[in-house]
Amino acid sequence: MQFTIEVIHSPALLPFYNINGKTVVVIDILRATSTLCVAFKTGVKKILPISTPEECRMFKDFDFIIAAERNAEKVKGFDLGNSPFEYENPLLEGKNIAFTTTNGTRAIKQAKAMGAEFIVAGSFLNINFLCNWLVKQQHNIILLCAGWKDKYNLEDTLFAGAVISQIGSNYILNDDAALAAQFLYNQHKNNLEGVVRQSSHARRFTALHANTDDVGYCMQHNICDVLPIMEGEYMVSFKSQLTASSSS
Ligand code: MLT
Repeated sequence: MQFTIEVIHSPALLPFYNINGKTVVVIDILRATSTLCVAFKTGVKKILPISTPEECRMFKDFDFIIAAERNAEKVKGFDLGNSPFEYENPLLEGKNIAFTTTNGTRAIKQAKAMGAEFIVAGSFLNINFLCNWLVKQQHNIILLCAGWKDKYNLEDTLFAGAVISQIGSNYILNDDAALAAQFLYNQHKNNLEGVVRQSSHARRFTALHANTDDVGYCMQHNICDVLPIMEGEYMVSFKSQLTASSSS
């Protein structure tokens, strides 16, 4: 049996797709899904995606580290924001984090609410690890771009195209959105970082944080051999027993 890959370029398009029972790769290159990869590489135990900073703040009383980003900035009063650099801190090893971001955690929660069977986080930081897992998984795949407040984001599409260029030959690709991602990636694969630096969120981010190169950090390839995967309400680091065949 051959499986499909589809790309959803913005969460606003979710109502037009059937994601029920499929594997959804949530993509928020700048920066939420990149940051999730770094957190699990550091050894964070569990990350609870949360909708709002208000709700997230309440987890401080339950032995969680609380992390919140809105509009590319750390929310005042939280332990952490959404910079991958913050999540390299060895003191985070073994800790649980309650995490809310403008788009990334929202996309994860939307995928869950719409019945995805597996939800994983993709980024350039873990692309090979992710692609190897996807191929072994033998499942229908949705690449869900988190975008920016329901608008299209260039960097998320480029990543979707990179995944398709690695594994697409094993799948049925009859979705124009997937083809568009693949074509865009093929056109720019030799200058990905240069193109991403022109994107709206890279410019928004750089205007706010001129001294931190989160964009450069998130464009590194394969520095995190981890796969953030949803288990119940939490994102955890993939353990090999969790596969499509063992879940059925
Ligand atoms: C998000 O989830 O919207 C992003 O990761 C924004 C950011 O923190 O850069």
